Amino acid sequence: MVHQIRLFLPLGALALGIGACTQSLSEGTAVQLTEQRRAAAPDTSGYERRTPQDLNGIGKYYMGRQIAHVMGHEGAAWLDRSDRAREEDTDQLLRALKLKPTDVVADIGAGTGYFTFKMSALVPQGRVLAVDIQPEMLASLRETKAKLGARNVVPVRGTTQNPNLPAGQVDLVLLVDAYHEFDYPREMTRAIRQALSPTGRLALVEYRAEDPDVPIKRIHKMSVAQARREMAAVGLRLTDSVETLPQQHLLFFQK
Ligand SMILES: C[S@@+](CC[C@H](N)C(=O)[O-])C[C@H]1O[C@@H](n2cnc3c(N)ncnc32)[C@H](O)[C@@H]1O
Repeated sequence: MVHQIRLFLPLGALALGIGACTQSLSEGTAVQLTEQRRAAAPDTSGYERRTPQDLNGIGKYYMGRQIAHVMGHEGAAWLDRSDRAREEDTDQLLRALKLKPTDVVADIGAGTGYFTFKMSALVPQGRVLAVDIQPEMLASLRETKAKLGARNVVPVRGTTQNPNLPAGQVDLVLLVDAYHEFDYPREMTRAIRQALSPTGRLALVEYRAEDPDVPIKRIHKMSVAQARREMAAVGLRLTDSVETLPQQHLLFFQK
């Protein structure tokens, strides 16, 4: 239900990025050859375009899952709704993260920073890198940071393909209700893997697709099987899970 009040803003280019490049762009024949090779090569990106079955999606599918529209900043107040803590048992979620005071944490798709600022208090000698692609969300984060004097919070402008995090330094990446709307999940998870320290963990929080009683649209949910497949594609394996939250999976992945 709650997701029905979301305002959606389709962000990001929908075209698939093809990384191939040629050094001889000025030579027409070389370009033509590259195009021919691209057309002949099997698509291993995991992406597909289809007519959307659900209009809350962008018509782009990753490993069989339709990607949802990005939640627009116009709906930001919903993220800070007063009954959220009870609805999602966010205290239990935060405890389950088992953060150490010195941890460097990245909250990707941080929105208004609902989790950013709660984690900031748990890592007083560490840092929280709060990543979002919407400048309006980052503006809201900066305002709250100033109000709370949360000096260990660092707002970071990401792109749809890159969270712009330092390589090998992050102890925990938290993704709450954000991953299913990443336009480029494969590029993002690859970049997350790179950002993790050798013992770093990715904590993925998504509404349980297996549970029809969770009152959220299907496109905003994810199953454990799907999450495992998508993370395995970039070399991340499921190492732990918490299934006692009221509506969401909390899944931990590591390299
Ligand atoms: C539904 S909100 C969740 C916000 C926050 N995690 C929370 O639970 O309160 C999803 C957020 O993810 C952001 N987002 C979507 N795609 C992103 C990407 N590729 N990189 C970083 N942020 C992204 C959106 O701008 C939005 O602020």
